[in-house]
Amino acid sequence: MCGIVGAVAQRDVAEILVEGLRRLEYRGYDSAGIAVVDADSNMTRVRRLGKVKELSDAVDATQVSGGTGIAHTRWATHGEPSEINAHPHVSGDISVVHNGIIENHETLREVLRERGYVFESQTDTEVIAHLVEWERRTSETLVEALQKAVKQLDGAYGTVVVDRNDPSRVVVARSGSPIVIGFGVGENFIASDQLALLSVTRRFMYLEEGDVAEVTRRDVTVFDAQGQLVERDIAESNAEHDAGDKGQYRHFMQKEIFEQPTALINTMEARLTKDTVITESIGVNAAEILAKVEHVQIIACGTSYNAGMTARYWFESLAGVSCDVEIASEFRYRKFVTRPNSLLITLSQSGETADTLAALRLAKEKGYMAAMTVCNVAGSSLVRESDFAFMTRAGTEIGVASTKAFTTQLAALLMLVTAMGKQQQRIDGAKEAEIVEALHALPAQIQAALAYDKEIEALAEDFADKHHTLFLGRGEFYPIAMEASLKLKEISYIHAEAYAAGELKHGPLALIDADMPVVVVAPNNELLEKLKSNVEEVRARGGLLYVFADAAAGFEADDSMKIINLPHVSEITAPIYYTIPMQLLSYHVALIKGTDVDQPRNLAKAVTVE
Ligand code: M6R
Repeated sequence: MCGIVGAVAQRDVAEILVEGLRRLEYRGYDSAGIAVVDADSNMTRVRRLGKVKELSDAVDATQVSGGTGIAHTRWATHGEPSEINAHPHVSGDISVVHNGIIENHETLREVLRERGYVFESQTDTEVIAHLVEWERRTSETLVEALQKAVKQLDGAYGTVVVDRNDPSRVVVARSGSPIVIGFGVGENFIASDQLALLSVTRRFMYLEEGDVAEVTRRDVTVFDAQGQLVERDIAESNAEHDAGDKGQYRHFMQKEIFEQPTALINTMEARLTKDTVITESIGVNAAEILAKVEHVQIIACGTSYNAGMTARYWFESLAGVSCDVEIASEFRYRKFVTRPNSLLITLSQSGETADTLAALRLAKEKGYMAAMTVCNVAGSSLVRESDFAFMTRAGTEIGVASTKAFTTQLAALLMLVTAMGKQQQRIDGAKEAEIVEALHALPAQIQAALAYDKEIEALAEDFADKHHTLFLGRGEFYPIAMEASLKLKEISYIHAEAYAAGELKHGPLALIDADMPVVVVAPNNELLEKLKSNVEEVRARGGLLYVFADAAAGFEADDSMKIINLPHVSEITAPIYYTIPMQLLSYHVALIKGTDVDQPRNLAKAVTVE
């Protein structure tokens, strides 16, 4: 949540900071601000309510010059979105931006008030500004002041501080919220995500938990949580430079939906032969670990949770390994029992989701045989803190609504299930070849599914004036219905629910009337006849049905039922395939409703707060 950018350079940095914020806007977008200090210690702060565009216009209209600066795009946690609550927050000569939550901010406020500080905002961040200002009075250096200040903070923070009296440096601290330092030539940068800095550098250093660092134009000095001088690795990034551009598309979400064939090809590259999964590609000791797994515990949030729910069917039906899936925010506060030889798998696009990360840290103390992550962001906290990572290669996902991250997670999980089943001798060569063939066929099938765009756009008209929608599926298509309902509610603000179709008669059937569209995911599988009975239950009660069906499934359209006939695809990969028309449906409904597709209200891309 929230995005941070900072710079120490000789040239004016305002434009670089604002461009960085633009690239991070997907993380939070209710207000934004910038503070820049010039060589004569003049500080200019500009803050605006609303998106980065508002800030950018304001910066253009103001003379903001100087080579040292910090900037922030906010997703409100403490205090409403407003200019007063926007970062940077200032105390005397000190300016601060912060991601995360300071849990003991109330107590610190009291202490700081007694010391005479006056609070301007309702944010937790302002306590950091005053604390650093206070500690600066008795510290030799700014970095020492920050070290003393962060020792008093409980909670999560990624924070960057500048002192107008010393524009030659900024200082940063990381605990619970990622901070990356970007190395330029005679200039250095800071951000909460390397994406913000790809236009100025490709050399990055990730701070570790508890690190505090001082960044000047020429040097970066890092101290660990104990205050010891430490070295951190610098890595060259190969992230796509143009990931922040929409290209020919109207929205990032649309672009990302259409990128799925390529994202899937990338995710499967060098992991499959013609008819096998290359187990070693999952991790160095993967073969040994996968052979021993007796139980899988998946932890995730949101769309990633829905991917986990789908994979549960595969782990049990294909690999014969029991699997539980739990929402991270529940798991982390539950007194759970760890099963013998249980493999913990976290699923995450960002690798920074606070609840998932906390669940991983907790689980590592609870005797799991290993902790792996299926993740899309290299160098993210989940990747660094897990025993091994199986990376999805979806490319940067910017739209808040997750699309290509979901389908690549599913492909990665299916490869993992296959490797596990093979190691456990529950998947034989023929079955493995069938799964791999289905995976190889998927990118082309998805490319063809994208051609339903126009048909689905026309269908979307029926949904735009509705207040509720039901999504139905059975078996592994139930979590696909869950994901479809999450997508619709998230970007169109239409209330949507997913039900296992067999569960309808236990309550939700009471909701059915002509104002409640019911979307059915209907592949031609062994549950088809059962699903058809559920469809009849809806039809008999005057419900309006929209059935996304295998063309051979035998549904017939009439006044109460529209059918989108889809070609037959392998039953194994069909959950991935049927996701595409669902994504297109949500996208087009949101377009008609005129909502902010890429940055829906109240949400943020990476949820790095609890
Ligand atoms: O980065 P993660 O996969 O850990 O994020 C988890 C959820 O916050 C995320 O999937 C969220 O539900 C999406 N906005 C859904 O489209």
